[in-house]
Amino acid sequence: MASPLFRSASTQWASRSAATRAGLAPRIRTAMATARKIPASPALAWRPVLCYSSTSLFHTSASRGSADSVNALKTPPQITAETITVGGKTYNKDSTTNVTPTILEKTTRQLHLIPTHPIAIIKNLIASTFPDFKHYDQFSPVVTTKENFDDLCFAADHPGRAVTDTYYLNEKIMLRTHTSAHQLQVMKESDKILVTADVYRRDEIDASHYPVFHQMEGAQLFDAKTAVEDIRNLIAAGSSAATAAITTEDTTQITPENPKQECHEEAAMLAVADHLKYSLNLMIRKLFSHEKDLQVRWIDATFPFTSPSWEMEILYQGKWLEVLGCGVSRQDILNNAGKPGKIGWAFGLGLERLALVLFGIPDIRLFWSQDDRFLKQFEPSKIQKFKSFSKYPPCIKDIAFWTTPNFHENNFCEIVRDVAGDIAEDVQLIDEFTHPKTKKHSVCYRINYRSMDRNVTNIEINEIQEKLRQEVVDRMKVELR
Ligand code: PHE
Repeated sequence: MASPLFRSASTQWASRSAATRAGLAPRIRTAMATARKIPASPALAWRPVLCYSSTSLFHTSASRGSADSVNALKTPPQITAETITVGGKTYNKDSTTNVTPTILEKTTRQLHLIPTHPIAIIKNLIASTFPDFKHYDQFSPVVTTKENFDDLCFAADHPGRAVTDTYYLNEKIMLRTHTSAHQLQVMKESDKILVTADVYRRDEIDASHYPVFHQMEGAQLFDAKTAVEDIRNLIAAGSSAATAAITTEDTTQITPENPKQECHEEAAMLAVADHLKYSLNLMIRKLFSHEKDLQVRWIDATFPFTSPSWEMEILYQGKWLEVLGCGVSRQDILNNAGKPGKIGWAFGLGLERLALVLFGIPDIRLFWSQDDRFLKQFEPSKIQKFKSFSKYPPCIKDIAFWTTPNFHENNFCEIVRDVAGDIAEDVQLIDEFTHPKTKKHSVCYRINYRSMDRNVTNIEINEIQEKLRQEVVDRMKVELR
C-alpha cells in the first residue's frame, strides 16, 4: 500500500526551541537534539516523497543539458508480441515485462515541459531558487535497473525492485521509479545539479495516487577538505530574510539507525547537512511565500543512497504534508562519479503533491486532462487557484472473485487502468473473507468510474466492466463469483 498523502500532526512536536523559532538553519542541532527517533523503515522510505503559490514572475533557469531528445519521446510507443519501442529505441520483452500500453502512452506527454502546466510552473519556481544549478529535464524515462537501483546502493532484495511495484520493459530495462536514477550520470558532469522528470510506480487507484508523477532531484557537492569553511561562508553570505518567517522543528539526531558514513569527517558531514537544510528551507519559503507563518519539520528517514537521511514536512491546513526526502549522499556514488575528494547532499521531491496544494487541484488525474477548461486556466510562472468545473456523475460497479495464492492488489489495479484508463477514479476493497471449509479467499472491489471531461453512460461502463471481468480471469487466473 502507498503511504498516505497526508500524515496526521503529532502532538509531540508542540514545543520548539528559540533557535528554531528564529528560523535559523537547523545546523548542529542535527547532532545534539534529543527527541524521538523514527524507526528505519525501508518500505516507508521507498514510497514516493511527494510534493507546491504565490503570484509573481520567477526567473527560470531550466537549461536542458545533454539530455535525450524529447521529440523521440513524442513518437507513440509500440508494443508487439516480442518487442517494445519507446523514444525511438526497441527493447526485447521477457517474462519480467509488465508495462502496459496505457502506461507507455504517458511517456509521450512530458507535462513538465509545457510552460503553462502547473507541474512545469512549480518546477520553474523551484529551479529559480537554485539559479546556478545545471538543470536536466529531458531524460528518457527508460533506464536500466543498474541506474535505478544498483548504482544507488539498493539491496538485491529491496521491495522497490518487485514487479508488483515497478514497471519493467524486460529484466534489465525499466521505467525509472525516481529521478535519483540519474544522479550518478549528472554528478559526473557537475557539482550543482537539478533533474526534473516523469517517474513511474505501480500503485493503487484514488484521487491522490497515480502510476505516473513528476519528481525534481537536486544535489550539491563540496570539496571535502574545505567544506566546513566553504559552507560557513556560503550561509553567512546568503539571505537570512528568506528563512526568517519559517518555524523549523528539527529534533533529528545522528544515531546508529541514521548514521554518519564512516568515511566522513563529522564536521564536514554536519556542515553539509546544515547547508542542505538551509537550502531547502529557502526553497520552501519561496514556494509558500503567501503563507505568513510557515511551519517546517525535519524527521529522520532511510534511503539506500543517503546517510544520514531526512524528510521535510510542512504544516498545511492543519496537516503535516511530506514534501521531500534528502540526505548526505553515499560516498560510493561520488566515488563512482569520479569525485572521491567531494562530499555532498541530495534531495528529491514530488511535484504533484506541491501542485495539488498550491493550485488547489482536487484530483491528481486532472494533471493529465486534455480539457481546455483545465489547460487554459494557467499562465507561465504564476501560481493561481484552480477554478473547478462541474464534475460529471460517477458510475459504480463491483467485482468479486476468489483469489489465487500469488494475487497482488497492484496487479488487479493495473488491469483496471489498462481496461478503463483514467475513467477509473477509485478502486476500493469493500469486502473479503476466507471460506471456512474450502479455505478459498474471496475479495470484492468497488470501482468508481467517472470521466473528468464528459458524461459516461451506463452502457459504456457495462462494456468496460465486462471486459474487466474477462481480463481479470485471463490474466490473473482467478475465479469470478
Ligand atoms: N528518490 C527518493 C524517493 O523517490 C527521494 C530522495 C532523493 C531521497 C535524493 C534522498 C535523496 O523517494
